[in-house]
Amino acid sequence: MILPIVAYGDPVLRKVATDITKEYPKLDTLIPNMWETMYNAHGVGLAAPQVGLPIRLFMVDTSPFSDDEDLSKEEQEQLKGFKKVFINAKIEEETGAEWDFNEGCLSIPDIREDVKRKPEVTISYLDENFEPHTETYNGLLARVIQHEYDHIEGVLFTDKLSSLKKRLLKNRLEKISKGKISVDYKMRFPNIKKAR
Ligand code: NI
Repeated sequence: MILPIVAYGDPVLRKVATDITKEYPKLDTLIPNMWETMYNAHGVGLAAPQVGLPIRLFMVDTSPFSDDEDLSKEEQEQLKGFKKVFINAKIEEETGAEWDFNEGCLSIPDIREDVKRKPEVTISYLDENFEPHTETYNGLLARVIQHEYDHIEGVLFTDKLSSLKKRLLKNRLEKISKGKISVDYKMRFPNIKKAR
């Protein structure tokens, strides 16, 4: 089932999300529903707060990046097979010199900006079977994970922009929160009463 994606301005996107247990209600339908919602919107990642749930759950599938010709064959292969669910994730370490990448977000349609992040990330998490893992990622994989991780910390990529950029985007962000935007997937807007 496709779930509505929560738009910029909704308080749920600003909460520090909480850990869950195996007993979290209907997790076995929530996860497939979130995959379906993400693919329907052509996203490479989706976090639970984006479907209105302030819990530490996100997923990543970087396959759409794998035909990017600017990447090495090795990196393309790595991105092609990467599909994972991250539960109760915690970033242990981020290292390296910050690099820019043009990011977007399903909760902030039509806005893309260069965001600086460190290239390497070590993260601990539980998979969908609640098995623990600690892994290190770099490059685009790290980038997508860092973006989704920010969602469960109540952070959006627009927070990371310069104050000038933020001022320039203010009106567009306000329009998004009011639903004054055309988008080809189902969304829920905080500042209008009825969902579209
Ligand atoms: Ni996002």
